[in-house]
Amino acid sequence: MNIRSIILTICLLTAALLPAESMDPLKLRPLITKEEIASRLKETARQISQDYAEKDLVVVMVLKGALCVVADLIRELDLPLDIEAVQCSSYGARGTQRGALQVIGEERLQIHNRDVLVVDDIFDSGHTIVTLIEKLKEKHPSSIKSCVLLYKNDVEKATDYRPEYVLFDIKNEFVVGYGLDYKERYRGLPGIYVLESP
Ligand code: IMP
Ligand code: MG
Repeated sequence: MNIRSIILTICLLTAALLPAESMDPLKLRPLITKEEIASRLKETARQISQDYAEKDLVVVMVLKGALCVVADLIRELDLPLDIEAVQCSSYGARGTQRGALQVIGEERLQIHNRDVLVVDDIFDSGHTIVTLIEKLKEKHPSSIKSCVLLYKNDVEKATDYRPEYVLFDIKNEFVVGYGLDYKERYRGLPGIYVLESP
């Protein structure tokens, strides 16, 4: 074994023995538990089931962030429905810094004369949902509303519009978990956490 491979072995062993947290300087502060999410989802689903009885509901999920909320919501809805998806991203790999909004998949949607419910993870400035709703209106749905897991208060909004269904209002903090990511990480956490510097 030469000196370089000894040093490499020591580095690898040190990294393997360190707790994962010490390699990741960000801290997660619990904000909303999975039980609280489940309970609000049931209430919201009850309301949506009443409002869309006798309608032709198409749920348009905004990937990737809405994946957990849609998966759980549709199992609580007592309604026939179709699920479609678009992918919107404005943060991407740059983490918390916003870029231009990209929408993928909207051209495939068959929503003419149907009742559309856009479901997203979070309404921050509102830019994503408002832009998406404007695009979808060009396809002449019978109605179009939105449902979000989180609505961020104290943020300058692009609009006066507030989604018709909001599970939780939160402060202006960067959150992850239950579908929400930071640089594509943390989506699988069962609850919602504030991402903090240590
Ligand atoms: P808006 O266009 O400003 O409303 O931002 C909405 C999109 O930005 C969401 O669909 C999320 O993907 C992302 N986003 C905004 N705030 C957060 C956050 O606190 N954590 C993770 N993603 C966020
Ligand atoms: Mg995101």
